[in-house]
Amino acid sequence: GALWVSAADGRIQGWDWQASDDNAFAELMTRNYWVDIDAVAAQGQVNGHDSKIKVKIVTTNEEQNEFFFPGFIDTHIHAPQYPNAGLFGSSTLLDWLETYTFPVESRFGSPPDSKTGHQTSTDPRDAPILAQQIYDQVISRTLSHGTTCASYYATNHVPATNALATLCYIRGQRAFIGRVCMDNPDFCVDYYRDFSANDSLVATRQTIEYIHALDPEGNLVKPIVTPRFAPTCTRPALQSLGDLAASYSPPLHIQTHISENINELALVKELFPEADSYAAVYDKYNLLTPRTILAHAVHLTADERALIRARDSKISHCPASNSVLGSGICPVRTLLDEGITVGLGTDVSGGYSPSILEAARQACLCSRLLAQSAPWQRDNPKDADGNGSDGREKLSVSESLYLATRGGAAVIDMARDVGGFEMGMLWDVQLIRLGGVKLAKKSPLDCVVGDGSADLVKAGPVGNVDLFGTESWEEKIQKWVWSGDDRNVKAVWVGGRLVHSRV
Ligand code: GUN
Ligand code: FE
Repeated sequence: GALWVSAADGRIQGWDWQASDDNAFAELMTRNYWVDIDAVAAQGQVNGHDSKIKVKIVTTNEEQNEFFFPGFIDTHIHAPQYPNAGLFGSSTLLDWLETYTFPVESRFGSPPDSKTGHQTSTDPRDAPILAQQIYDQVISRTLSHGTTCASYYATNHVPATNALATLCYIRGQRAFIGRVCMDNPDFCVDYYRDFSANDSLVATRQTIEYIHALDPEGNLVKPIVTPRFAPTCTRPALQSLGDLAASYSPPLHIQTHISENINELALVKELFPEADSYAAVYDKYNLLTPRTILAHAVHLTADERALIRARDSKISHCPASNSVLGSGICPVRTLLDEGITVGLGTDVSGGYSPSILEAARQACLCSRLLAQSAPWQRDNPKDADGNGSDGREKLSVSESLYLATRGGAAVIDMARDVGGFEMGMLWDVQLIRLGGVKLAKKSPLDCVVGDGSADLVKAGPVGNVDLFGTESWEEKIQKWVWSGDDRNVKAVWVGGRLVHSRV
């Protein structure tokens, strides 16, 4: 059958046996691949929604080992921290920020003008070459892992933030771009901060205007208002950023961190003694909106979850980062049961990997650890029967893939546009290639040293070798999630444009 994707708007027009001559993109797609049928690869319920994951099976001449899968959505990633991926020593959040994170981020531009406090240029070419190159690498790397859309934190430098937006636009990655605001001198280091709340506001506006000029329709790249987190921001900054987001129609997206680490909670209590809770700090300044992405949310109280649910704010679950920095285990099942919308984030470089497939795997793994932990370590007293867990915390592969795609789409308020294969959705898709079934003909005992690796190459990429040809699609997908990587990602499209491929 042929796949029709509109060349005009990059949206799925149909799956059909008739190829269309006047549709260049459909031709491109069908020249090499035959799209046969939908297979249900995984099934379940998330948030009361059907979490059925469909794959579009692709048949090539040789074997049925390829399928289209919705592109991954990374709802939380720090682009300038990419050089630090894997580097954290034994730090936890607050000393990690000071030891590793602020130093690397500060390299992405010069401090603001000492007289005006403002950045003097908005030109992305005024960003250091180092910043431009690292941002380009981040885009290459995330695309190669199947990330078709990312919500990025940049730094507080306007030229570099605008460079990240421009590179996403040129390279064709869907993205939200946030200029990071941090003006509280009591927490931020002098070599890397805004010098006033007004500086945060003015510079944020500069990036918003730049991005709106770059992509007026917001088809690919959109600005996102980014107060780093409560401790880095003064009250006037939080106030003006909340007002700024609300002053646009539709209101701008907002992203920040919440309730990641125990010491951070104590710090927020100390800095904002007037607030009932961490979430209440953000709520006071109109930063809890339906378009707000809250990263981590590991230690929320029931009242905070109720507040976030009432505001319809969204949560980015960052399991790799939460483990690495010793932040804790986010009770995802509880969030979902309470009706909160959840997606996945890599949180590079709190997270060590730019891969959302890895985030899905870690979401499954962490949920298993939570299910095994002692009753008093778990959040839901319902389980505190002393007999161990009923296993409710466990996320299935199906659920983690839902969070990686449809969940993420809901987090960025694009559930009708991306995350699945419905008619009219954008063609933000990855082509996944599983391992082949070819076996070497001769005995390895007869091989000279080295032949074994040649056989490995022939066997294809990791993630799946269906040795007996008997696996269901559900089983194939499980093996992909638990053991696959970027070698399985053969091609990636965003809005119908091919943005990554490997032979
Ligand atoms: N809280 C404030 N800034 C950061 C950051 O860069 N990463 C993480 N994981 N948490 C934060
Ligand atoms: Fe983060």
